[in-house]
Amino acid sequence: MTIRKTSLALLLGAFLAAAQQCPQVHIFGARETTAPAGYGTAGSVVSSIISAYSGATGEVINYPACGGQASCGSVSYASSAVTGVAAVASQVNAFNTKCPNSVLVLVGYSQGGQIMDDAYCGGGDTNEGLSSTAIPISAAAQKKIAAAILMGDPRHIPGLSYNVGTCQASGFAPRPTGFQCPYAANIQSYCDAADPYCCNGSDANTHQGYAVEYGAAALTFVKGKVNAMLSGTGTGGGSTGTSTSTTPPTNTGGAGGAGTAAHYGQCGGIGWNGPTVCAAPYTCQASNAYYSQCL
Ligand SMILES: *[C@@H]1O[C@H](CO)[C@@H](O)[C@H](O)[C@H]1NC(C)=O
Repeated sequence: MTIRKTSLALLLGAFLAAAQQCPQVHIFGARETTAPAGYGTAGSVVSSIISAYSGATGEVINYPACGGQASCGSVSYASSAVTGVAAVASQVNAFNTKCPNSVLVLVGYSQGGQIMDDAYCGGGDTNEGLSSTAIPISAAAQKKIAAAILMGDPRHIPGLSYNVGTCQASGFAPRPTGFQCPYAANIQSYCDAADPYCCNGSDANTHQGYAVEYGAAALTFVKGKVNAMLSGTGTGGGSTGTSTSTTPPTNTGGAGGAGTAAHYGQCGGIGWNGPTVCAAPYTCQASNAYYSQCL
């Protein structure tokens, strides 16, 4: 009996010590096809977020990032992407189990954006043979994801509330028409018209330029979302937030996007380019300067 109590206390002590080592913010980064192991072109974005939060940590998604090239082991794009989606889910779930209170951020570049998109939004990916439409990230971990940054995501389709950039066409592995991500309010997806992978252009340099072009905007967006979650006013999306503010939203992101935002969708805030009108009967309510939501 005494022995059992002692070992229990030891276990609890070890658990508490481990919990204390958890960062306030943890960032997952996924690189683009054929980039060497690491964050790839998403690296500067990941670093800027880590630098913004004392003690924040980052983690590379471990997946082939290949499109059939010999340099990455001749793994097909489809196989690499499907492996990647599973890797995102297992790494995010494992981290959330270890550190359930840490706020999480996803950053993905090109194929890395596709696997983050698929893992966070679900819906399956018939382009790559991923038939399960479920979100593979656990419900608990989903709630701790404050923001997802997608750059040059081949799943791009026009008209989504979180699209940023000049692209008005689809990428090479597009979402089906009418697709809605349940976490739309937490996402920014950067894609310009000249991009041959997330759009229908022909300038590969455009595809490689998003970290420079949109890095500052992405950091501002992530900080708004992370700060809201850290202060308890943000939600992982999908669940009800407690906003008591009735201040009208300020849209400083230029002309508001077309269409209306759904219940719980984002409808304003600094950097927001999406819709600023809510579907009836909901009204747009400001949670903070960076985030207004349809409630
Ligand atoms: C790309 O798609 C848009 C929207 O459909 C179209 O207006 C544009 O002409 C296309 N560009 C190219 C280069 O095909």
